Amino acid sequence: MKRLFLSGAIVAVATIAPASAATYSLVDNIVGRDFYNAFEWQNIWDPTNGRVNYVDQGTSQNLNLTYASSDTFVLRTDFTSVLNPHGPGRNSVRIRSRKTYRKHVAVFDVRHMPQGCGTWPAIWETKEDGWPSGGEVDILEGVNDQGPNAATLHTTAGCTMPQTREQTGTSGQLDCNWEVNGNTGCGVRFATQTSYGPAFNSVRGGWFAAERTDTYIKVWFWDRNDPSVPGEIRNGAGNANPDTWGIPAAYFPDTSCHIPRFFSENNIIINLTLCGDWAGAVYGQSGCPGTCIDHVNNNPAAFKDAYFDFAAIRVYQ
Ligand SMILES: *[C@@H]1O[C@H](CO)[C@@H](O)[C@H](O)[C@H]1NC(C)=O
Ligand SMILES: *[C@@H]1O[C@H](CO)[C@@H](O)[C@H](O)[C@H]1NC(C)=O
Repeated sequence: MKRLFLSGAIVAVATIAPASAATYSLVDNIVGRDFYNAFEWQNIWDPTNGRVNYVDQGTSQNLNLTYASSDTFVLRTDFTSVLNPHGPGRNSVRIRSRKTYRKHVAVFDVRHMPQGCGTWPAIWETKEDGWPSGGEVDILEGVNDQGPNAATLHTTAGCTMPQTREQTGTSGQLDCNWEVNGNTGCGVRFATQTSYGPAFNSVRGGWFAAERTDTYIKVWFWDRNDPSVPGEIRNGAGNANPDTWGIPAAYFPDTSCHIPRFFSENNIIINLTLCGDWAGAVYGQSGCPGTCIDHVNNNPAAFKDAYFDFAAIRVYQ
């Protein structure tokens, strides 16, 4: 999906949502080998036309494209094979949580994210069946190392966001309707440069958190060195109190978007594609060499850093 951002948009502070102190309890603490049970591997055709071949769980383990230890889960693309230009794409991995969630908080403690020309990593939530009638929340997404991160909603027609919101990021398109501008969605570009790509990896990553209620969706980010990261996030505590986490990077209120109508029970999905509808389309503009497909086919070593390293995913309800 391509994303368009209005330049010169203003970070505004206005409508202050009435804070109803909500405490959530830890329901899923996914660390290391837990990923193999909490997620299913989707060896499907990439719906975004990327130059990847999504492999199944056994293959990903055999090829070491996923790797787990007691406190690490790594998910990556192949970085050793030169590809036959007429054969399948570069081996990669796409995983989807077995459980689905409505009201919840999800915290992603990420040490490293895929980087390199042609990469298009994503951490997001959706209901694939009947998409986009169950909504889509993109928590981490970008292409070709072009930060900072953006969080974006995609919905059916009738969900729009106000220009003025209490968030630190910059609003792009305000209409979340997938039919507008080729599924651009209503995105918010984060203010923090370290929220994406090589800059993120240079500080050993950080934490993304998303809260979904019946009246809003919020997304926060703190990098590894950010002194303002809440202790309960840093420590993976048993309770979460997002009302104490400060102004989010992205705030999607229900001013003109009835959240329960546009968002159903969603899975968490992590996918890592190469080229395709977005990364491929803006590859040259991103300052990347040659063509995206040739780069993927011929330069395996360029994908050595195309991996996620998760310390944990924690879900609270
Ligand atoms: C498998 O991947 C892990 C994580 O990247 C790495 O530490 C390990 O050395 C790899 N194992 C092999 C056999 O390459
Ligand atoms: C993952 O797949 C979905 C389509 O099912 C797409 O919307 C999303 O952009 C993809 N992201 C990546 C990084 O492949």
